[in-house]
Amino acid sequence: MTAYAPERFRPFTAREIINDYFINRVIHGDSLIKLMQLPDHSVDFVLTDPPYVVRYKSRDGRSITNDDRTGWIEPAFAEVYRVLKPNRFCVSFYGWNKVDVFMSAWKQAGFYPAGHIVWVKDYQSSERFLSYRHEQAYLLAKGRPDFLRYPLKDVLRWKYTGNKLHPNEKSVYALRPVVGAFSRPGEIVLDPFCGSGSTLLTARDLGRNYIGIDIDEGHCRTARGQLQ
Ligand SMILES: C[S@@+](CC[C@H](N)C(=O)[O-])C[C@H]1O[C@@H](n2cnc3c(N)ncnc32)[C@H](O)[C@@H]1O
Repeated sequence: MTAYAPERFRPFTAREIINDYFINRVIHGDSLIKLMQLPDHSVDFVLTDPPYVVRYKSRDGRSITNDDRTGWIEPAFAEVYRVLKPNRFCVSFYGWNKVDVFMSAWKQAGFYPAGHIVWVKDYQSSERFLSYRHEQAYLLAKGRPDFLRYPLKDVLRWKYTGNKLHPNEKSVYALRPVVGAFSRPGEIVLDPFCGSGSTLLTARDLGRNYIGIDIDEGHCRTARGQLQ
């Protein structure tokens, strides 16, 4: 007779869920739903570039899903906060003219702003009242992270990608110092709005594990292609 083996029926551990379903994967789907499947406190750092909610249209007519509505911002960042380990960081790009909406969602989730990063462009992305020459992101803390031994400068250099793979494609060059400062080799870096996969590529090149999610199947394919 076969012996009773209760350990075979035990629930999956958080680590098993991460390893089997998420780690080093680009997941196609809505972050609001996919993040719910991640256990609490399961990622070490979040670097993300969500839609700026500006109804962006590139010169060749490409647009971004959810860039025309704000309702997703609060629930998405509530989930980001839940899955992030305590005393760690999320760095999020945002649209400068929608700072109130993003800041309110981040604070509602539990984050507090611990710094602000500006990337300086050597070209203008547009021209109106100003010649627009920077990108920006908030450094958001969960809990009380330790100070860094070598703090990252909050003004960094930008590099234009040409946006060939994605209308809002960021360069690994611009993201590398941030991933390097706020995560360690072997840790898990999450980007729930991963687009062409620039965060994931940066994380992998620096010896981190990554989890990427995007609602657009084409962008997921692009990201996977980049990572191959
Ligand atoms: C600003 S772009 C990210 C670009 C990326 N940083 C890159 O370098 O390619 C934002 C991305 O969020 C995705 N997105 C929008 N709403 C989403 C949602 N609810 N869940 C997952 N992805 C979403 C869009 O498809 C888009 O690719």
